[in-house]
Amino acid sequence: MTHVVTDNCKGCRYTECVTVCPVECFHLDGTMTYIDPENCIDCGGCVPACPVGAIEPDYRLAADKKFWIAINRKRVAETPVITARLPPLPGADERKLALGR
Ligand code: F3S
Repeated sequence: MTHVVTDNCKGCRYTECVTVCPVECFHLDGTMTYIDPENCIDCGGCVPACPVGAIEPDYRLAADKKFWIAINRKRVAETPVITARLPPLPGADERKLALGR
């Protein structure tokens, strides 16, 4: 099992999740973060840390969000690890509002 970053992260990338991960399993690109399923220990600490509810354990994902499991796995192989918080992306707060968060 693993936790998975999903669509709400896109365009926000608050990186609060990174600050609580005990195993440095987050990677990032220009739009969002991804969780390395091989490193994730399923502690769940990142779930409440995310201001837009972007992270869920894989077994709780809705059927139409299961594809994010494969995307996280693919993208961690292509992107660098992130271990420290970054400023959110421009427009993140507006997107957060639009998401009703
Ligand atoms: Fe994304 Fe939420 Fe982390 S917006 S970078 S999953 S805190």
